[in-house]
Amino acid sequence: MTFPPSFLDEIRARVPLEGVIGKRVRLVRRGREMIGLCPFHKEKTPSFTVNEEKGFFHCFGCGAHGDVIGFLMRDEGLPFPEAVERLAGDAGLALPARDPRAEAREKERHSLYGVTEAAAAWFESELAGQRGAAARRYLDARGVDEETRAHFRIGFAPDSRTALRTALEGDGVPEAMMLSAGLVIAPEDGGTPYDRFRGRIIFPICDRRGRVVAFGGRALGERQPKYLNSPETPLFAKGSLLYGQHLAAPAARKANRVIAVEGYMDVIALHQAGITEAVAPLGTALTEQQLEALWRLAEDPVLCFDGDEAGARAAARAVERALPQLSAKRSLRFATLPTGQDPDTMVRDRGRRAMAEIVAAAIPLSDQLWKMAAGGRTLETPETRARVNKQLQDHVARIPDRDLGFRYMEDYRQRLRLPWQGRRQGGAPSFVAPEPPVRRGEALGAGGQGIAQPRERALLQLLLSFPALALEQHEALAGLHLETPRFAAVVAALIDWAESGPEPESSDLRATLAAQDLDDVVEELVGQDAQFLDRPTGIDHARDLFVDALKRQHQRLEEQATRAEAEAAHTDEEAWEQTRERILRLQETAKAETDIPDLGVSPRASGA
Ligand code: UTP
Ligand code: MN
Repeated sequence: MTFPPSFLDEIRARVPLEGVIGKRVRLVRRGREMIGLCPFHKEKTPSFTVNEEKGFFHCFGCGAHGDVIGFLMRDEGLPFPEAVERLAGDAGLALPARDPRAEAREKERHSLYGVTEAAAAWFESELAGQRGAAARRYLDARGVDEETRAHFRIGFAPDSRTALRTALEGDGVPEAMMLSAGLVIAPEDGGTPYDRFRGRIIFPICDRRGRVVAFGGRALGERQPKYLNSPETPLFAKGSLLYGQHLAAPAARKANRVIAVEGYMDVIALHQAGITEAVAPLGTALTEQQLEALWRLAEDPVLCFDGDEAGARAAARAVERALPQLSAKRSLRFATLPTGQDPDTMVRDRGRRAMAEIVAAAIPLSDQLWKMAAGGRTLETPETRARVNKQLQDHVARIPDRDLGFRYMEDYRQRLRLPWQGRRQGGAPSFVAPEPPVRRGEALGAGGQGIAQPRERALLQLLLSFPALALEQHEALAGLHLETPRFAAVVAALIDWAESGPEPESSDLRATLAAQDLDDVVEELVGQDAQFLDRPTGIDHARDLFVDALKRQHQRLEEQATRAEAEAAHTDEEAWEQTRERILRLQETAKAETDIPDLGVSPRASGA
């Protein structure tokens, strides 16, 4: 009987290794692992380790390795199903009911591999045979040598509606299986099924283990569609495989490098040129599963894109897709090809060296994201910087690894402060003065702050009353622009403190603020005579108030940015009218906010 993978995972999760192995081996804890004398070979000093966290045992003496099921199989010589049944029994898990349909599907899948394999072999023989002459000439002209053809099992489908079907029939393959493997197409009117691939060069698509599961077929000339692929079948989910993966994997793992290119021919040309860590998605943008597959091969896969606008869009899509999966050990790099070239033409026209240089020059994901948000803009005005910052924040917010997200913003904050560092393209960088230093502890009550002040004050009151909130929200702080200089200085100090260590102490916050001469401002905000707009009842309430105030603050920044944008481009009457409406709407929101009882109106004294 076959067990669903979820059931096996359940067993692995429920049955601790220590319980099962501990009955046979005396285990002693050492750091994260347990260690003992290996039951599978004779030894006097222990080299047998059990890693509960990772769920496996490993012997450094004899190489025995496996999970809890593997241990039982090895230790008691049980076949897999019996080991599973025993463990399930011990864990009190009911065996999954037999699912005859699932088993039938499984069986069908197994025999389908035979069908796709037979087809691949037949396509190969057709390329070598009499009917394959034009296809061989085509491959010659494209510089695909004999060795490469064999390595990728390139074949040819003659221009016939029945040739493959007849050949497979001769091998005893039932028509239903040809259909199921996607090799023939059944006409809707119920007529005889005919060959899907006709008059095309055939690129077999293999799974991770190198079994043929599908095909891509390229027209010999300009015929459309240029490429035709197998449909989804029980063997083939195109979003989860990468072309060339089984051939690239050994080299990729060894070098901790994998290169994703766009097309079949690109993969083939790179391998032929000796760059054997190349793979490609199957005619679509990279899916999440394909990213996972890339990450299983290397920590920072290099994605190769065209230098044109479509390439930039494709890169942006890849970034979007990758963000929710990033961690310190899983990122991406981006390589850009000269416009009009793909890796295939690159290696042919300019050689392996030139291509290798492009891959080596790939930029990290953080740079690519910066390019997306800030690329081509000058960052002279605070408004532009605020807008860029907002975009960056929206992206970075999607990185689930908090520390990593924080590091991203740390990096961008620096670039926004020193805009010339962020610019990479073109000419000598124009000097842009960094933001003026904030005057610390500036005289209280400096005028001209308008409606901004109550909100800014409230934000800081919340943070200073609940330093834990400042830690929790430190990413938001990084993007919090306050217009009142002395308040902005407090934000900067809060950030300094939040970044001062893994778990900053509230007591150190006082010291940080004092060191920056901010005692007066703190006194003004949360001291004896301070007036609170709203007194939070606890940290949860404080968080709600904070998030709300933050939203308003960002709306205000956006309003300012929109205004700046409109003023710069109000030559176009209609566009201006639209922009103006947007500004008015934003102003309505801002006005509604000032109608909130203001400090002077409803002072709720603090202190006590
Ligand atoms: P390209 O048109 O860049 O393919 O499409 P290529 O590999 O460079 O093709 P050559 O060099 O002209 O032979 C990139 C990939 O998009 C998919 C294929 O997977 C192709 O390799 N594609 C393209 C299709 O699925 N169908 C098409 O009609 C075109
Ligand atoms: Mn090409």
